[in-house]
Amino acid sequence: MTSGPFDYTSLLAPGLPVPAVKYTGFPKYNFVGGHNDAEHVPVDHLIASATAVLGREGRTLATYGLESGPLGYRPLREFLVAKLKRDAGISCTADEILITSGSLQGIELINGLLLSRGDTVLVEQVTYFGSLNRLNRLDVKAVGIPLDEEGLRMDALAAALEDHERRGIRPKYIYTIPTVQNPTGTIMGEARRRELLALSQRYNVPIFEDDCYADLIWDGRRPPAIYAMSERGGVIHIGSFSKSIAPALRVGFIVAPWEMLSRMLALKTDAGSGALEQMVLAEYCAPHFATHVPKLTRGLRAKLNVLMEALNEHFGTSAEFEDSKGGIFLWVKLPDNVDTPKLYQAALAAGVSINPGPEWSTDKAYSKSRLRLCFANPSAEQIRDGIAVLAEICRREFGVPVRSANVEKRAKG
Ligand SMILES: Cc1ncc(COP(=O)(O)O)c(C=O)c1O
Repeated sequence: MTSGPFDYTSLLAPGLPVPAVKYTGFPKYNFVGGHNDAEHVPVDHLIASATAVLGREGRTLATYGLESGPLGYRPLREFLVAKLKRDAGISCTADEILITSGSLQGIELINGLLLSRGDTVLVEQVTYFGSLNRLNRLDVKAVGIPLDEEGLRMDALAAALEDHERRGIRPKYIYTIPTVQNPTGTIMGEARRRELLALSQRYNVPIFEDDCYADLIWDGRRPPAIYAMSERGGVIHIGSFSKSIAPALRVGFIVAPWEMLSRMLALKTDAGSGALEQMVLAEYCAPHFATHVPKLTRGLRAKLNVLMEALNEHFGTSAEFEDSKGGIFLWVKLPDNVDTPKLYQAALAAGVSINPGPEWSTDKAYSKSRLRLCFANPSAEQIRDGIAVLAEICRREFGVPVRSANVEKRAKG
């Protein structure tokens, strides 16, 4: 017999990821994650939608999957059918949409369907951390393809596909965030989407299109989805309500032919994604989505302006960035001597959280002096103050920027 608290250590499965750190609240200046603007969560309309839909259909909560089956609440899928047609040019039926618990679950289902240990996939050289770390965990090789101001570079992609073919390796998919790329904020134009489809067809490698930010474009105009442009299939599309409405709802979706969805359903072990969220969203979105999004993007654009002004004021020429085309992030290059993982540690101690570049890239050297800033959640005042603090910390640790607000500063030591 042993005494003391039960010890699970010797029972834990091998190969577990590192444990999560305990939540201790958000830092004062929070520039990380994909959080949304609290001011723009449509709370009143969500309350009214919840009351209406529960009053009308609340009793259907008695069955798993409501009365819509395992693909998700049918009115939400029907809303998406109309929205995807109108905005992205996608023609699909409600039976070609699977509602997921956030688009992260979509990523996991697609990975579960296609990937095994040792496989190769092609990804954008800087891309979503959540996708990279899942590939890492699966022991799948993520080969980074460089980007330019229009996203994935086709010359580099063609060379990589050719090289892999020569070596007898068929990548399992090309993962791209073509419509407001995370983290660079670029949009792939229609002609380039066509080139991408041609390469995908030529090398027989499918495209995994992650359109999570497609609603958040400053001028509201987007090219058709790659899914919509493909004449022979070979594209899986995912999207999310996290960025357009609220990430805590955890509602995303996959668009794919039934042959693929039926296999994904067999891997989806949660017996259905949260029903209440789906019901409230469907009730809310049908009448309000189209008017909500432009208000949200106007607010985000204003915050991005504040962020860029603050960076110009406090970092001057030490911070290089391209104005994002939409979304909630700015991807920033600092001078080469700045090590952003180290800057992250020092800044966090001062209450400023940033995403260090190497977490968002397949190329650690290229991204070492880069960082991602999310501007959606902090207020304009927090953005200004947070960037001022970040500049101070960066100067203290790395000697740059030398000037702030046109005042020369000296690094300590
Ligand atoms: C490119 C991309 N895909 C997917 C996700 C996952 O989002 P969610 O699971 O909240 O839909 C994110 C979140 O930030 C993202 O940036």
